[in-house]
Amino acid sequence: MTTSTQPTVLVLNGPNLNLLGTRNPQVYGSATLDDVAALCRDEAAAHGWAVDLRQTNHEGALVDWLHEAGATRGCPGVVLNAGAYTHTSVALHDAIEAIDVPVVEVHISNVHRRETFRHHSYVSPVAAGIVVGFGVAGYALAVRGLATR
Ligand code: DQA
Repeated sequence: MTTSTQPTVLVLNGPNLNLLGTRNPQVYGSATLDDVAALCRDEAAAHGWAVDLRQTNHEGALVDWLHEAGATRGCPGVVLNAGAYTHTSVALHDAIEAIDVPVVEVHISNVHRRETFRHHSYVSPVAAGIVVGFGVAGYALAVRGLATR
């Protein structure tokens, strides 16, 4: 997962989140994924953890990374912003259900104030917790949430 010997939180990002900073800034703000990594690292460091932040536009890669987290001894948890796959992916639901690692679902925007197709999540029923609508600060809140478990 990383060369770090510290317990490492996986922060997984799905489709289009590579465009954070330029994509619909009125919805997602101006912070980039690098800024998100810095926020997560600061919060994780307070708990003695490292962070491995990844992004993909491919559903199966998210499934593979969830399995990897499940197979990594001492992984404190996964922070997952699955983007649009949140609303479509039974495969992500099943992958989260199959692993024995807590997964916190994050959305930068308040999906419940948006289009109705964003109101349903396949991730939520198997998530350890959910952070929605706090902008990119939600990622750090999710790391903190993992630490309180
Ligand atoms: C999102 C919300 C999703 O509905 C959307 O498809 C995204 C980003 C969020 O962080 O607010 O890509 O997960």
